[in-house]
Amino acid sequence: MAAIQSVMQETRVIAPPQGMVEGAAVSGMPAYQALVAEAERDFEGFWARLAREHLEWKKPFTKVLDSSAAPFFKWFEDGKLNASYNCLDRQVAAGLGDKVAIRFESDDGQVTPVTYKALLARVCRLANALKAMGIKAGDRVIIYMPMTVEGVMAMQACARIGATHSVVFGGFSAKSLHERIIDAGAVAILTADEQMRGGKALPIKSIVDEALAMGGCEAVRNVVVYRRTAGAVAMTAGRDQWLHDLEAGQADTCEPEWVSAEHPLFILYTSGSTGRPKGIQHSTGGYLLWALLTMKWTFDIKPGDVFWCTADIGWVTGHSYVAYGPLAAGATEIVFEGVPTYPNAGRFWDMIARHKCSIFYTAPTAIRSLIKACDVDPAAHPKKRDLSSLRILGSVGEPINPEAWMWYHDNVGGGRCPIVDTFWQTETGGHMITPLPGATPLVPGSCTLPLPGIFAAIVDETGHDVENGNGGILVVKKPWPSMLRTIWGDPERYRKTYFPAELGGNLYLAGDGAVRDRVSGYFTIMGRIDDVLNVSGHRLGTMEIESALVANSRLVAEAAVVGRPDDMTGEAVVAFVVLKGKRPEGEDAKAMARELRDWVGREIGPIAKPKEIRFGDNLPKTRSGKIMRRLLRTIARGEEITQDVSTLENPAILEQLKRAI
Ligand code: WTA
Repeated sequence: MAAIQSVMQETRVIAPPQGMVEGAAVSGMPAYQALVAEAERDFEGFWARLAREHLEWKKPFTKVLDSSAAPFFKWFEDGKLNASYNCLDRQVAAGLGDKVAIRFESDDGQVTPVTYKALLARVCRLANALKAMGIKAGDRVIIYMPMTVEGVMAMQACARIGATHSVVFGGFSAKSLHERIIDAGAVAILTADEQMRGGKALPIKSIVDEALAMGGCEAVRNVVVYRRTAGAVAMTAGRDQWLHDLEAGQADTCEPEWVSAEHPLFILYTSGSTGRPKGIQHSTGGYLLWALLTMKWTFDIKPGDVFWCTADIGWVTGHSYVAYGPLAAGATEIVFEGVPTYPNAGRFWDMIARHKCSIFYTAPTAIRSLIKACDVDPAAHPKKRDLSSLRILGSVGEPINPEAWMWYHDNVGGGRCPIVDTFWQTETGGHMITPLPGATPLVPGSCTLPLPGIFAAIVDETGHDVENGNGGILVVKKPWPSMLRTIWGDPERYRKTYFPAELGGNLYLAGDGAVRDRVSGYFTIMGRIDDVLNVSGHRLGTMEIESALVANSRLVAEAAVVGRPDDMTGEAVVAFVVLKGKRPEGEDAKAMARELRDWVGREIGPIAKPKEIRFGDNLPKTRSGKIMRRLLRTIARGEEITQDVSTLENPAILEQLKRAI
């Protein structure tokens, strides 16, 4: 609440710089308002115009939106196109073949430029190799690769042949990878021998081997391995092949597979409030339209720009703003393999200066940790570099607190660069609520206004609009082209999760709370209203972590996981655990906490490790046996319990848990 109030009391308003307004894709508020009005006046006509103007269609669509099976919407369905064609061939045909598409910087600082022509040729070679393995349109391919040119190539090659990719973040465990292989029904995996992070080589291929050995993966007949480090890996004959061998044997042209606009381009797993991660299924046409259009509107991308989105391809931001959007826009982008703190905390700023980066897009967690790093190492300060190439800054993944916003604006942006605080989700495919750099007056901490065509609103628990100034539930009232199409293999869960009957069944439920400013109507996101945590901009389900803990049936009897605010990571995971054996104290408790943290790391991935584990003889429960998570949240925050505890079966447990650190 404190964060929201400070935003609500925020009085600083920063107008877009005059130089930015002129020539911007959306130039000035009247231009923004005209687009909003166009979408209100002629909703389908608006989207049809944009889809025709911005994408190249092999076969034009005749119908814009099909709502007959709502909430399973279809956009541009009878139109045919190819995403890879729109990202690569189209640029080459427009004379951009020799333009650098990707400027790759490795962990150890080596820079490799790759032109559009060269990228297209490599994508075609890999696409041909995948086809030669018998992979065809509609097959699912898992990509478990580091941030490299080859990672982007893998995604583009799948798109080229119509195979639906599912990228799994390289930090996920073998078990998480296994779950996704099975759920997606994958027939092949693209991976690397190892990945480099912060000067260290970390295994990848061996994790794939481990996942495949867990069983049930007989459908996976091919594993393609990119040789990144040349570290020792085991290759299984008849199944595993080196990427460079495959590329060498193939032609560098490949006719794209022309697919329906509704063809699933990818599935990306994300955490929900209950159960297993859900496979968010995205389309080809609607998705690509928005990835491209938001590059133009939100980032005002221009031919001379050097664009850098620091997100990993394992997350949706790395899909829309690394693998697809920048290439569809014909931009030059930086792809960075490493971490912001290696060889020192000035790495991002050094790279911006060296590459003359003009648009920089990162997460608040990174900014906060780099602010802190400057205290320790003044040489890491952005002001020590020439960052004059920057013109636009972006923020994504979690709320940005006004202090971090101002620091970013003043020290990185030199006070001249608008910050686009982009609110969106894996499910939305691209930006939803964001300032436009040449139009929207900025208020630190607010993501300002919805993009044209996006009918975002705030409602109460019954689905009725709330007045500006009152908090509520963030919803979207009309479908939009880049929205998820379903949850892979579970349409009922899609309907229930995103279009709940309690809200009338026709509003898209984002899962976040929000408030609009009384006067400006600006949106401020107040964070998740479900059991999803946002740790360093990564989505984690509390239930998922609980399941991981109780899966340790040797040690754990019961577990409850909650979040608490954290200055650095936004939120932190706190687990309350009841062991099967005696409740440990002192050093024993520390050792046990370490063991369980590592266990969660192996079950899900290091990002899910609880920051804190507290042991109790029991958990606070109602007489009917329900765990009272509200109380656990209060305890985790170190706050006094003011809630009514009269329904509690065992009030004495609260004191124990408060003390148990
Ligand atoms: C949060 C990441 C505040 C929000 C693109 C959302 C944000 C979840 C912002 C989606 C922002 C994302 N301000 N909160 N600018 N951007 N979020 O699926 O809670 O990894 O629901 O997509 O991140 O996370 P996801």
